[in-house]
Amino acid sequence: MSEPERIPTVNVAASVYGDDPDEADPAELLHEASKLSPSTVVRQMRGVWKLEQSAPLRASTARAVRRNRALVGNALPPAELPPVPLADVLRSRRSMRRFAESPLTLEQLAALLEAGYGVTEQDERDVLPALRSAPSAGALYPLELFVAVRRVDGLDPGVYHYDPLRREIRHVADAAEPAAVSPHAEVIESAAAVLILTAVFWRSRFKYGLRAYRFTLLEAGHAAQNVLLAATALGLGSIVLGGFYDGRVDGLLGLDGVNESSLVLVCVGEPPE
Ligand SMILES: Cc1cc2nc3c(=O)[nH]c(=O)nc-3n(C[C@H](O)[C@H](O)[C@H](O)COP(=O)(O)O)c2cc1C
Repeated sequence: MSEPERIPTVNVAASVYGDDPDEADPAELLHEASKLSPSTVVRQMRGVWKLEQSAPLRASTARAVRRNRALVGNALPPAELPPVPLADVLRSRRSMRRFAESPLTLEQLAALLEAGYGVTEQDERDVLPALRSAPSAGALYPLELFVAVRRVDGLDPGVYHYDPLRREIRHVADAAEPAAVSPHAEVIESAAAVLILTAVFWRSRFKYGLRAYRFTLLEAGHAAQNVLLAATALGLGSIVLGGFYDGRVDGLLGLDGVNESSLVLVCVGEPPE
């Protein structure tokens, strides 16, 4: 039997940094700036102390949701996930880039939103933050969830904002041309719905400083994975898309791209026949 051809390992690190690493590499600066160390931890955690001292601040942070009272809310139906073993869901999740033309049901959309960032435990006196399906540093919940509806029973196409505290969605914008928002236009074109995870950075930054940026991105990963696993459990196809034009998506949602910004898209739809 002949030996399999040996493929040499490429030094990927060198292709990123070259022979002479750039000291001003923005990614490294960000990582360095957001490190915690024993000598600076007190200074870095001033926000923790501020929060302990202020009841109004604690009450405000317990209501982490973007809300425009001028917009009409559509109540979501009860959302159930089928009792599928987690081991099967983890094994069978696979990214899908082409979907069937059939629409999602409103119940399926509700289940995806609830799985992503829904409230799972509420304080009866409304003093403590409502806890969600995804973990969050300090339970500050710096994320928001929008959904671009393309084919969902009972909903007009368009972009909706999800309010986890009220279990409602509100129409906020007309849908955009897929090619205008992403180089993966054909995936978006084919999806029945595209969930858009966005960050309200200051919700976490006031407490955790620069480390909050790490936390917020990590939390987006937790919420996105929840959506992917829920989609798989529902028998739907899904994919995370990091490839999108940030400025265009922010513009669509009315975000300034600094204090609030889009982070990642999750496309969902029925698998092709
Ligand atoms: C943060 C992130 C961003 C991604 N962005 C894209 C993307 O822009 N386009 C794409 O086709 N796939 C994208 N993917 C999907 C990956 O290509 C996919 O997860 C990978 O090939 C592994 O396949 P699997 O998801 O089926 O396990 C992304 C995945 C992650 C986690």
